[in-house]
Amino acid sequence: MDNRHFYEPRGGHGLPRDPLRAILGPRPIGWISSRSASGIANLAPYSFFSMLCDKPPIIGFSSIGEKDTLANIRETGVFAYNLVTRRHADAMNRSSSPAAPAVNEFEEASIKPAPCTIVDCPRVADAPVNLECRLVDIHQLSDATGTPADAWLTIGEIVGVHIDRAFLHNGMFDTAAAGIVLRAGYAADYFEVGPEAAFSMRRPTD
Ligand SMILES: Cc1cc2nc3c(=O)[nH]c(=O)nc-3n(C[C@H](O)[C@H](O)[C@H](O)COP(=O)(O)O)c2cc1C
Repeated sequence: MDNRHFYEPRGGHGLPRDPLRAILGPRPIGWISSRSASGIANLAPYSFFSMLCDKPPIIGFSSIGEKDTLANIRETGVFAYNLVTRRHADAMNRSSSPAAPAVNEFEEASIKPAPCTIVDCPRVADAPVNLECRLVDIHQLSDATGTPADAWLTIGEIVGVHIDRAFLHNGMFDTAAAGIVLRAGYAADYFEVGPEAAFSMRRPTD
């Protein structure tokens, strides 16, 4: 028997659970805050998320279906990213509950908001890092045949960066000390990044 499991996703994976999220992970979590045009604050985690470019600094995340975060960003053109660390893991999880657009999810998840500096949007006051973003594009995803998916990639330029100085050591952000939480494969799986996960490797061109 071939020792490699091969499948074409269109035909099903043939396993008890879809392995792709477990393989393409652990992933950073974009804990995205936004505000509706009428001023209601919103907060929700998105792990179909990544940094896409550094010059200019651009991040993006995918909304599977039209959610409040997407609707708010369409309306206001701004959002903020908040770094999730172990201390905020439960609050981040609570903020993923489906809530009506009229509900302030900072209040629901007992999280203290603070105003952003550049954009008109709330951020998580005591997250070690907040990134203020302006909308660049909302792109509806499609499959390789061009059939539209019920998924939207929201791309934003980082226009303001807040860093808690407690995590700046010799001017460098200390990723290992922050206790960053990553989304892993199956329903309840997460990782916390600690110093034991770190190793060094220079690029051949360095
Ligand atoms: C760790 C985590 C990661 C998530 N990632 C995504 C994601 O990438 N895309 C998505 O559409 N929903 C994702 N969700 C679910 C949303 O957070 C959830 O649907 C939430 O209610 C959306 O809130 P909103 O309607 O206020 O935007 C995730 C949930 C959790 C707990």
